[in-house]
Amino acid sequence: MKKLATVIVLILVGISLAGAQDIKIGGIGPVTGEAATFGISTKNGMLMAVEEWNAKGGLFNDRKIKLIFEDDKGDPAEGATVYTKLIQQDGVAAIIGTVMSKVTLAGAPICQANGIPMITPTSTNEKVTLVGDYIYRACFIDPFQGTVGATFAYKDLKAKKAAAIFDIGNDYTKGLAENFKATFEKLAGKASIVAYEGHPSGATDFKAQLTKVIAAKPDVLYIPDYYNDVGLIAKQARELGYKGPMVGGDGWDSPELVKIGGSAVENGFFTNHYSPADSRPIVQDFVKKYKAKYNAEPDALAALAYDAAYIMFDAIKRAKSTKGADIRAALAKTSIDVVSGKITFDANRNPIKSAVIIAIKDGKQAYKTTVNP
Ligand code: PHE
Repeated sequence: MKKLATVIVLILVGISLAGAQDIKIGGIGPVTGEAATFGISTKNGMLMAVEEWNAKGGLFNDRKIKLIFEDDKGDPAEGATVYTKLIQQDGVAAIIGTVMSKVTLAGAPICQANGIPMITPTSTNEKVTLVGDYIYRACFIDPFQGTVGATFAYKDLKAKKAAAIFDIGNDYTKGLAENFKATFEKLAGKASIVAYEGHPSGATDFKAQLTKVIAAKPDVLYIPDYYNDVGLIAKQARELGYKGPMVGGDGWDSPELVKIGGSAVENGFFTNHYSPADSRPIVQDFVKKYKAKYNAEPDALAALAYDAAYIMFDAIKRAKSTKGADIRAALAKTSIDVVSGKITFDANRNPIKSAVIIAIKDGKQAYKTTVNP
């Protein structure tokens, strides 16, 4: 009897010495590969949010966050591997990630099947959250982004004829091209899309498609792609004699864009999630803290990763639970102010948010305007 009592006492002392148990959260982003700046910013934003929450005492009952971050390399197969690893090997309670829609579309079904709540900071393709009720996002969706781009081209750039060039193997660029086309045709008429050219994934020579595009004499060229491809496409379009404006989406947001595209990306405009020039105090406070920590201006990827982490941590705190079903239910009731705006979710687990339009001017990003839904 005495022995048993001693054992119990020892166990209790052991538990209290170990302290509250950390809560494991998975983070995913493409830190290497075709869009590496996306992953680096994403990881930075997430880590900053984790530090702030842990400094405040963690999620609930003094339980701190242990972030396990994985690189998906911008590749859907690699993405599926790391989602599975985080869930099955590490036993994470929730996942924040990933960035590129084509990779998130590979990971979301794995989260849904395992009952693990997931929030993507930046995957804008409409299909992502339609995977199921455990799948959320912190950003607007491409039907809105494409509409904003097309309306800007028609109304502000006064374009009557538009062309688009996109990656046929990438859900994000294909979807965005379709959304742009649909809105532009509504505004400017059925025959207003004068060229609509797909290219294979991984291409570096776009001259065949661009020759057709330029022969059709568009007033504006829509390039809904990631910064690497955009830089090359813009350069080759200028070499072939295209002088008009170019419009794109959030995939343009990288310091690498002007390094790759040089002067070819001048007279370029893109839709994005946030601008560091926004004067709201929550934005300016974030920009200041991020600059102090990383010595760089936070791009939209950093801001949205920070926001997505805040949204997930807030839900876990309110759920006071690490069970997937409880976190999922708390996510549905989200109402929180974050850097990129106020977040509440619609029936498809998408937030309703405004977009900003950014111009490329003298090699720099310049905020032009905000567009509300
Ligand atoms: N929206 C892109 C996608 O869905 C990812 C992205 C977001 C890229 C924000 C840059 C900035 O694939």
